[in-house]
Amino acid sequence: MPKIPTNKTRPDYWPDEQRALCALDALPEDTARGFTLIGNAPDARLDVIVWRAGDRLSGFVNKCPHMGLPLETFPDRFLTATGDALICSAHGAQFDAAGKCFAGPCKGQNLKPVTLKLVDGMITLCP
Ligand code: FES
Repeated sequence: MPKIPTNKTRPDYWPDEQRALCALDALPEDTARGFTLIGNAPDARLDVIVWRAGDRLSGFVNKCPHMGLPLETFPDRFLTATGDALICSAHGAQFDAAGKCFAGPCKGQNLKPVTLKLVDGMITLCP
């Protein structure tokens, strides 16, 4: 059953310890994938995007700076057709690998970055 996108991203929730997201090998180069972290408090939730652009890993809160919506309409469909930028499906904002919007209604604004590191081959979100 496909994941239904929601606008329940809560950027005020951050895990207080490292959280493994997936194996690096499970995220091919030049792809992006979404993850949802659930906390202990009711409704504690953080949606993040991990983009592996070549050998660079970038991570962002999945919340568009334009209207606060998640970027994707369909699961893990975060990239433009050319695969060189993230795109928000709502109004077409495009973001570079640093999370900066370079085209669209929030040009000049940024996705909120998250800190990622590799731990034993696992892409790990750091608090
Ligand atoms: S909500 Fe993303 S471009 Fe409008």
